[in-house]
Amino acid sequence: MKVRDSGMPDEDLWDSFFDVDLILRRLGVDAGLEDVAELGCGYGTFTLPVAARISGALHAYDIDGAMVARTKARVARAGVTDVVVRCRDVVTHGFGLPPASQHGCLLFNILHHDDPVNLLRTTARCLRPGGRLFAIHWRHDPATPRGPSLSVRPQPQQIIDWAKESGMLDLAGAVLDLPPWHYGLVFHRTGE
Ligand SMILES: C[S@@+](CC[C@H](N)C(=O)[O-])C[C@H]1O[C@@H](n2cnc3c(N)ncnc32)[C@H](O)[C@@H]1O
Repeated sequence: MKVRDSGMPDEDLWDSFFDVDLILRRLGVDAGLEDVAELGCGYGTFTLPVAARISGALHAYDIDGAMVARTKARVARAGVTDVVVRCRDVVTHGFGLPPASQHGCLLFNILHHDDPVNLLRTTARCLRPGGRLFAIHWRHDPATPRGPSLSVRPQPQQIIDWAKESGMLDLAGAVLDLPPWHYGLVFHRTGE
C-alpha cells in the first residue's frame, strides 16, 4: 500500500529542499553504522550520501518502479557496489531483511502514513537492539514549499508518542532542526 500523499515533484526541485550533508551530520549518520535500510528512497536523494558515510551495506526500497529505476541509475553512475535498491511495498510486506539485522533504518518524509505505529514497529523489528531509527519530516508550517497536507503531517511530539506506543523504540536526544524545512528525530531500538 502506497503511503498517502507520497507522490514526488520534479527531481531537481525535490533535491533543492534539503541540505543533505547538514541533515546527515546532525542525525549522526556516520561510519559507526554498519548495515542500514531505507524505506521509500524516492529519487535517491539520501541514498548515495548515506552509503558514503556508513561502513556496511545500504538496502534501499521504494514501491514506485520509476523511483527505484532512478535511484539504481544514480548508484550505477557512482560505481557504488554496497547499495541494493529494490522495488517493494514495505508497508505491506516488511523489509524482507532478517529480524534485528540492521544498525540503522531511515524513515525520511514517510511518517504521515495512516498507521504510523505499525510502520515504526515494522522498522524497529529489523533493527538490532541499540540500532538507530532516523526520522525526518517536513516542519508543520504552511510556509513549507512542499510536503503532505498539514492535516496528516506529524509534529515531532506525535512521532515521539507513536514511537513510545510501538513499545520498541526510545528517543535518543532532542528534536533536531534541519533547515530550511525539516526536523529530525533519532530513536534507539530497545532490548538487549
Ligand atoms: C515523499 S517521498 C520521500 C523520498 C525520500 N525518503 C526522501 O526523503 O527524499 C516517499 C517515498 O516513499 C515511497 N513509498 C510510499 N509507500 C511506500 C511503500 N509502501 N513501500 C515502499 N516505498 C513507499 C514513495 O513511492 C516515495 O518515493
